Amino acid sequence: MTELMASSPAATERPAGGSRPPHPDIAEVLITREAIAEKVAELAAMIDRDYAGQTVLLVGVLKGAAMIMADLSRALTIDATLEFMAVSSYGSSTSSSGVVRILKDLDRAIEGVHVLVVEDIIDSGLTLSWLIRNLRSRHPASVEVVALLRKPEALKVSVEVRYVGFDIPSAFVVGYGLDYAERYRTLPYVGTLTPEAIERGR
Ligand code: IMP
Ligand code: MG
Repeated sequence: MTELMASSPAATERPAGGSRPPHPDIAEVLITREAIAEKVAELAAMIDRDYAGQTVLLVGVLKGAAMIMADLSRALTIDATLEFMAVSSYGSSTSSSGVVRILKDLDRAIEGVHVLVVEDIIDSGLTLSWLIRNLRSRHPASVEVVALLRKPEALKVSVEVRYVGFDIPSAFVVGYGLDYAERYRTLPYVGTLTPEAIERGR
């Protein structure tokens, strides 16, 4: 056990995602793992303060929110329970209507519960605004949203995101839960893809 830990370089020597992109498909690291960790701690402190003395139900939207869900929930000191949902837009042609299909619903009722939706990124905000309406119809005590990233487009729709980690430009990003054709979710930082990688994934 001790030998294993001592010989493992994982904790200290893993690429941190600094100025030199560690993955060949990453053009630029926009947010390092250190910056994410710092921000998640800040968000957790705000949530701890706002929900002091209460229990909150964290609802993660699969799969992108898996990373922030894991890190944020462990940084909280308030009582929190976890649920996950999986949703999908009804095809690309109708996605702008914000019509969403539930692939995996909550495992329990949320009546009278303080719900905090945990999202990786808010882009058009259409999925989220549908989700909030859907959750509100179940009569929770409250519904708020925390998102690690927000793009400028999100500001055009009236979706209130109470906690935002970073406002980023509209560029397509991957890492820390975010994918391109299901790849790159496991990168510990957020970055943009090279044109070659984008072309390959088409
Ligand atoms: P919205 O309904 O347009 O806000 O869609 C949000 C969802 O689109 C996110 O949960 C992501 O799955 C996906 N998405 C939006 N922007 C990006 C991006 O830059 N990289 C990867 N996925 C993204
Ligand atoms: Mg996606």
